[in-house]
Amino acid sequence: MKKMPIVAGNWKMNKLPSEVISFVDEVTKLVLDIRSVSVIFAPPFTGLFEMNVKPPFYAAAQNCHWEESGAFTGEISIPMIKDCGVDYVIVGHSERRHVFGETDEWINNKVRGLLSYGLNPILCIGETIDERKSGETALVLKDQLEKGFDSIDNIRDCIIAYEPVWAIGTGVTATIEQVQIAHTVIREIIGKNYGIGNDVHILYGGSVNSDNAKDLIQTKGVDGFLIGGASLDANSFASVIRTVEEVQENRK
Ligand code: 13P
Repeated sequence: MKKMPIVAGNWKMNKLPSEVISFVDEVTKLVLDIRSVSVIFAPPFTGLFEMNVKPPFYAAAQNCHWEESGAFTGEISIPMIKDCGVDYVIVGHSERRHVFGETDEWINNKVRGLLSYGLNPILCIGETIDERKSGETALVLKDQLEKGFDSIDNIRDCIIAYEPVWAIGTGVTATIEQVQIAHTVIREIIGKNYGIGNDVHILYGGSVNSDNAKDLIQTKGVDGFLIGGASLDANSFASVIRTVEEVQENRK
């Protein structure tokens, strides 16, 4: 793997603003010596203002609105996020798609908006269990990718996170074979459509933890992780970061 792997923690709706600094300090101290992994913390919006990290640590938002400003009660715009010193924004997470009814069109608006502000979208895609059972996984991934990246010529600044919906927060991880097949499908699609398949990070997300991280990161096509539950505990998150660091160092 030539690219530096990424380990991102999606805190979802967890942790108070007053807990952010001590938690991030705890994690960064545990992995202070890492040199081969980029680490992204994605707190809720209320925690972003507290974030003050330097590479290889970065901050991400979990969502955004694509309009610059205006009458959109409850929404947060991209310039507001950027003003907090954020580099990455998660877009199209399955909870946004399935719980809040986000459409591919909105997701595409967000991706385009973020790129226009020089921020890096982390586009989440993934099939439901019914779609997998009916053999539609590849079609769903293609559809979500093409709609999410509609009218975008260059996806070099985008990250893709493959998160099978049935593996999120369930403790059920996709098998190595399932992950490898899905990542190959995604890489083929972006290679064909944008000609840069190998340059784009494809992260795996779905019940990643310190026990399964080693096998998953060694899976062909996996460039890192987007982690929910295990990113909320400093020791668990640091342990995954360290595992990825060790595997990456051994590749050199
Ligand atoms: P879990 O790691 O809790 O399964 O969540 C994955 C996820 O949704 C990350 O965005």
